[in-house]
Amino acid sequence: MSPIPDLDALAKDAIADITAAGDLDALENARVRHLGRKSVLAELLGSIGALQPAERGRVGKEGNAARRAIEAALDTRHAMLEGEAMGSALLADRADVTLPGDATPLGALHPITQVRLEVEEIFLGMGYAVADGPEIETGFNNFTALNTPAGHPARSESDTFFIAGGEEDEVLLRTQTSPVQIRIMQTGPPPVYVIAPGTVYRRDDVDATHSPMFHQVEGLAVDEGLTFANLKGTIAYFLQQLLGDRDVRVIPHFFPFTEPSVDVSVAWTDRHGRTDWLEVAGAGMVDPNVFANVGYDPERWTGFAFGFGLDRIAMIRHQISDIRLLYEGDLRFLEQFA
Ligand code: DAH
Repeated sequence: MSPIPDLDALAKDAIADITAAGDLDALENARVRHLGRKSVLAELLGSIGALQPAERGRVGKEGNAARRAIEAALDTRHAMLEGEAMGSALLADRADVTLPGDATPLGALHPITQVRLEVEEIFLGMGYAVADGPEIETGFNNFTALNTPAGHPARSESDTFFIAGGEEDEVLLRTQTSPVQIRIMQTGPPPVYVIAPGTVYRRDDVDATHSPMFHQVEGLAVDEGLTFANLKGTIAYFLQQLLGDRDVRVIPHFFPFTEPSVDVSVAWTDRHGRTDWLEVAGAGMVDPNVFANVGYDPERWTGFAFGFGLDRIAMIRHQISDIRLLYEGDLRFLEQFA
């Protein structure tokens, strides 16, 4: 049995050693040295049974006191070194708030949406309200109430996607925004000044000027004493606001729900310098039959209606020669309108 060490001195040396540990690894080495299984203290405490009975109590007490003092020093040093390690990790991680940020690219409205918003703005300025209608419509609203009864030739011309029902109660993708006229007139009495932009569908073969899905903006004015002059003036003002000074041509046409009916075209020059008329709207004076269908008195009220092609207007606006560009989602095209 080796002589019993001076436990006081042993604890002091160990604590000095621990306090000098420069990092967490060095501290762990110190712990093993002073408290590990092979340390002087551990061996002493493990062999107390071999001491003289008179010595056991004192050595046990002083040995344990030394161990607690060393443990406390270890804890203190550990907390300190850990704090320093965390501090330097934080420093290394520090964000430089003066660096330029990562720019998030801004999106932009689609050219058709831009045109729609401009159209709404112009009509709001003329005192019109903006209404909305469903793209899935009844055959009644899309055709019958618009003076296009079952069997009418115009009905078979506008083929679309039929969702449910038979000839009398069919449900379909609307072929025009005109059914919104019916919905509006069914909800309240005249006077009415409203536009209704939206998406419409037709069984059309895709080419540079046709798409099976496109956009219209419907207009309806019903009041006492409205005449064709009001229709023409409204359209002329609207086109002038939207497209600037251009020649506008109004020629006779046929639509089942207006009488008389016209086609509206504007002069436009394509990118190759060719000038031509481009049809942008159908319009006319509301047919008295339509008023009768919604319960308006045709003897008292007159009105006009129009349906503009929004895609067409966007194309004129931006000299786009192919409608397909509007629907392909090609960023190289779309970014030009941002
Ligand atoms: N709905 C017609 C179409 O899609 C366009 C139209 C013509 C709308 C005359 C009208 C109108 O409101 O009065 O071809």
